[in-house]
Amino acid sequence: MVRAIERPLQALVNGAMHGKDPYSVVRSTVFWGAVLKFLLHLRRILKREGLVNYILAALAPTLKKLPQIRNKLDKEMSKSMADFREKFSKELTDPRTQLPAEGMKEKDILDLMQTRKELDTKHWKAGKITGAVYHGEEKHYEFVSQVFGKWGFCNPLHPGIHPALRQMDSEVVQMIVNLYNGGPDACGSFTTGGTESILMAIKAYRDWAKAEKGITDPNIVICSTAHAAFDKAGKYFNVFVKHAKTNDDMQIDLKHMKSLIDGNTIAIVGSCCQYAHGSIDPIEDMAAIARRKNIGLHVDCCLGGFLVPFMEKAGFPLPPFDFRVPGVTSISCDPHKYGFAPKGASVVMFSNKTLRHHMYCYLTKWSGGIYATPTMTGSRAGGPVAATWAAMCKFGEKGYVETTRQIVSAAKKIGKGVEEIEGLRLVGRPDVCVVAFAGSEEAINCYSVADCMQKKFGWELATCQNPSCVHIALTLPTSKNADQFLVDLRESVKDVRANSQAYLSTAGLYGMAASLPASFLEDAAATYLDAMSEAMTTVPAQAGGA
Ligand SMILES: Cc1ncc(COP(=O)(O)O)c(C=O)c1O
Repeated sequence: MVRAIERPLQALVNGAMHGKDPYSVVRSTVFWGAVLKFLLHLRRILKREGLVNYILAALAPTLKKLPQIRNKLDKEMSKSMADFREKFSKELTDPRTQLPAEGMKEKDILDLMQTRKELDTKHWKAGKITGAVYHGEEKHYEFVSQVFGKWGFCNPLHPGIHPALRQMDSEVVQMIVNLYNGGPDACGSFTTGGTESILMAIKAYRDWAKAEKGITDPNIVICSTAHAAFDKAGKYFNVFVKHAKTNDDMQIDLKHMKSLIDGNTIAIVGSCCQYAHGSIDPIEDMAAIARRKNIGLHVDCCLGGFLVPFMEKAGFPLPPFDFRVPGVTSISCDPHKYGFAPKGASVVMFSNKTLRHHMYCYLTKWSGGIYATPTMTGSRAGGPVAATWAAMCKFGEKGYVETTRQIVSAAKKIGKGVEEIEGLRLVGRPDVCVVAFAGSEEAINCYSVADCMQKKFGWELATCQNPSCVHIALTLPTSKNADQFLVDLRESVKDVRANSQAYLSTAGLYGMAASLPASFLEDAAATYLDAMSEAMTTVPAQAGGA
């Protein structure tokens, strides 16, 4: 059979090559092979970043080496470094970079820790920050910390040594799978945070698609508002990320999303709710598409993880967003946000065990023995696991329904209030815990409003971009200040209208950032991260013990 096809082909090729010298045959083959490779590469670039972005990114390293540009960049970066250092050094307490020659007394350490703890509390105590600190009551923190401390030295990597920790780890996961209406095959794993949960879900889809469909050049389609962790997963795991547009409510544009799905798409991503504007993507519609295409659908409930399952009972019904919807194949949920667990607690869930198996990492020939871990970490802290178990059992369904009622009510109140302020407009929908807004007229720059809120009233809002807006993510401490927030916001809008030039620092920063190529902004971000990791900046080092 093969021979029958091969014979005419052989005759055709031999005929075409007749009289040609072998060298020119090899040369043409190499030449046309290279042309084909180039065209395939070009097609990939055009389909992905586009030619202009590709050329800019390729030229950036060379441009940055040109003396005029290098000098200007170096100057800018050292100025930024000095600014960052000054900012961080303002709040140094008893700085030291050398191991004390002799051990310090426990009392001295605890005294210093008390000073440091006060410093780490003062910024949020007034309940005027966005997100970050979700509960805020000392009594709750003391209770959770007690449990945290008892398991601080235990490691879920050693379930034989810490059987109770293994039990709590699996119970936290199962309680959350049940909250999200998982079926009998639904399962999950405990991770250190939302980002790790998202990374692990994407790794699972990548390995599943390779094993089941032979996809070696995978991509995912996410809404442009999905959390940065999905792009991070793409960078870490070599999965190309396509960004779908949004509709007017900052939800995924289904038509555009569908147009981005191709034969190499392994999963799509929806949020419930998303970080920047708090909108919820149309999960049921997305699930129907995912099923038709036989691809995964990850629902990111990291932020709203301990709000959305309780919203119906709190009086704010939502369309189904979890494993009740056929086609939802994984979900991420963070107890360390509105679950009031300490940091280092998230759960990634799957609708079936096959998918979870593709998340696992197996090393069967390692010299240290057969090694397998469910998630990114090797050793893992036991404290967050035990403390999450304790926090969840302390609140129970009734407690979370009540906290959900407080937080969602405050978000809705602020959302309504923003709509009534002349000069502002809502961006997205404040359906859960985030209220985002922008200026509705030229005179009102939202970044200036945020700067005014900070300078005059002490509110710390989050700045978002594409489109420009600012947001507040309501928490228990801030939800108590919802009325005051609106009073201060009204004043700030008035002030900005009257003094448009007085609050331009954030607006200036974002204006400049918008005009710079990505690679230059990456340098600035690296400078910030470098400054952040410096043990000490302007205060001289102190050697020896206390
Ligand atoms: C919607 C959403 N997803 C994921 C994350 C990432 O969570 P983490 O910061 O715990 O890694 C966040 C964090 O705010 C979020 O808002």
